[in-house]
Parts: sequence; structure tokens; C-alpha cells
Amino acid sequence: MMERPFAEVASVGVAVPSGILTNADLSRVLDTSDEWIVERTGIRERHIATAEQSVAMLSHDAATRALAAAGASAADLDAIVLATASPDRLLPSTACDLQALLGAENAAAFDIGAACPGYIYALTVAEGLIASGQSRTVLVVGAEKLSTITDFEDRSTAILFGDGAGASVVRPSTVPGRGILSTYIKSDGRLAPLLYRPGGGSADPISEKVVCERSHYMKMAGREVFKAAVLAMAEACDQALRRAGITAGQVDLLVPHQANLRIIEATAKHAGIPMSKVMVNVDRYGNTSSASIPLALEEALAEGRVGPGSVVLLVAFGAGFTWGSTVIRW
Ligand code: COA
Repeated sequence: MMERPFAEVASVGVAVPSGILTNADLSRVLDTSDEWIVERTGIRERHIATAEQSVAMLSHDAATRALAAAGASAADLDAIVLATASPDRLLPSTACDLQALLGAENAAAFDIGAACPGYIYALTVAEGLIASGQSRTVLVVGAEKLSTITDFEDRSTAILFGDGAGASVVRPSTVPGRGILSTYIKSDGRLAPLLYRPGGGSADPISEKVVCERSHYMKMAGREVFKAAVLAMAEACDQALRRAGITAGQVDLLVPHQANLRIIEATAKHAGIPMSKVMVNVDRYGNTSSASIPLALEEALAEGRVGPGSVVLLVAFGAGFTWGSTVIRW
């Protein structure tokens, strides 16, 4: 195996729509309450994009900030790896729309469909592109407009999801020891029907039936997903730490996927990391799938909770099922 790190995460930029949907807003149209949602999930509000704000546009705003923070330009990009579960169109990729918006004329561009761990999957691909010498500057994006695939008549899912985008410039490590120390990605497709969109794809193309049955929206078996998420996030933490050759005590900040505060607490407990070293912003964003980790990471950077030399553990779980983790020395 080659010596790590090959690649560093040079920056994080985010874009968040200004529209806010609170628990009080939801409880006016659904049989739910702020108390129930906060107690079961920790979520208080989520951001919702306008009809005009596409995933590519949110990605563009996040990417522009990430490029500026890394001192890079769109022309420097060799690849754009965009993770999303809510692409603007099914063909072509949202990454290609982003490439056009950025004017990143030297970049290959493609989407990754790995649901909530999408940013970690994309980082893993970026690291591989850099390690192989294929690319030098890679833009990794996690961007979602989950409000368009959420059934706002289903109280068990409508309360959970939000919109947003995060992006990072990934490039060869510039400082010895700084960068991605380990990655771990995993999946179990047998469990797909526990969290999926049954209709609207080529297996059951969009039709009057699909629309009437509302099967183009996300369906979820919440309790089963909850249990699987706790187990998978625990395993992923162990794997990333083992592969990086470090212990939980050496982690300065755990940045878990922001789906549910109870899942985050269980993950931290298993990893042996106190909540004082865990980034939490699920209360203000809900679950933004692939955007969730960069949104939390950017906030941690802005608050000074991550800085040069910090050891950060990222971990996520989502539809597929997919899960993954990475240890980064900042
Ligand atoms: N408001 C009020 N009651 C609700 C509700 C809501 N928004 N949603 C569900 N309920 C009700 C259910 O109908 C059920 O009622 P019943 O007992 O009369 O049948 C009761 O609450 C318990 O439902 P249950 O699904 O067992 O609750 P839960 O404690 O598991 O919480 C979730 C539901 C969805 C919050 C929880 O399962 C969860 O977070 N799962 C993981 C979801 C997730 O993170 N998915 C993305 C992974 S990336």
C-alpha cells in the first residue's frame, strides 16, 4: 500500500437557501408537534430552496466559496465529483451542469449516487484520482434539494429533510502528514426497500399511477433505518480509526451525518468520543443527505473547532444502505 496522505481537503464552502421551514410550520399542516419532532430527532427547522434554485445553482455557490478559500480557480479543476440523491435531471449529471456554470473547461464531471455518505464517497474517489496521478485538483460536492423528493403529506418523513450544498477542493497534500489519513466505504443493497423512492426511475417510469401513489417520493421504515444507522455508523468509526492507526482519544472533532440527534449521540458513545467533541447542527438544517457533512464541517471551521493539525473523523449512513467514514488531519 502507498504511504498516506496523498490528498488534503484544502477548503469547504457551503450554500444554504434562505427559506426556513420550522416545526411550527409543519405542525400547521401535519398531525405532528414541535415537541415530538425535537424529542425524536433534535430537528427544529430546515432550509428549503425556491423552485428556481436548482441543485446545480446551490452547488455553484458552494463551489465558488470553496475555490476562493483554496486559492484555486475553476480552470484548475481536473474533476468534479458531485454526490446527490436529488439530481436536477436524471440525464445528464448535475455535475455537468455545475461544470458549465463554473466554466470548469478542464474538468471531467460526474455524479455519485451514494445518498447520505455521498460526500465521503466523493472524497474517497477524489483521493483515488489524486493518488493515481489522474487528477491534481478535484472539486467534491454534496448537494441536495430533498424538498422535491419529500412527501409533505407523510409526517414520518416530511419532518426530517432539508436542502443545501457543500463543496471542497481536494488536492495533493501540501504539508507532510496533513490530509486524508483513512477512508472506509461500505454498502448493503439488500436493505434498499427500507429507504427508497420506488417510482419515477426506469423500473417504474413516471406515470399517472406513480404520481397518484406518490411513489416518486422517499419512503422509509424509520425504526429499522434508525437501528441500522446506529450499527453502521459505529462500525464505520471503528474502521476509519483502525485504518488511520489512531485511537478515539486522538480525535479532536467527530463530524457525523446530521440525520437525528439520537443517532449522533449513540455514534459518539460507541466511539468513546464525548459530545463536547461532536459537531451538531441537525437542529437548524435537518437531514440534508450528502450536504450534511460539509455543512457541519464548514460551521466547525468557522467556529474555530477545526484548524491546522486538527484530527477530524467524518462518518455517515444512508439509503442503499451505504455508509462510510474518513479520518482527516487538517
Ligand atoms: N409526529 C408525531 N407522531 C409521529 C410522527 C410525527 N412526525 N411520525 C411518526 N409518528 C408516530 C407514528 O405514527 C407512531 O405512532 P403509533 O405508535 O401510534 O403507530 C409513533 O409516532 C412512533 O413511530 P416510530 O416510527 O416508531 O417513531 P420513532 O421513535 O422511531 O421515530 C423517526 C421516528 C423517523 C424520527 C425515527 O425512526 C428516525 O429518526 N429514524 C431514522 C430516520 C433517518 O435518520 N433516516 C435517514 C437516514 S440517513
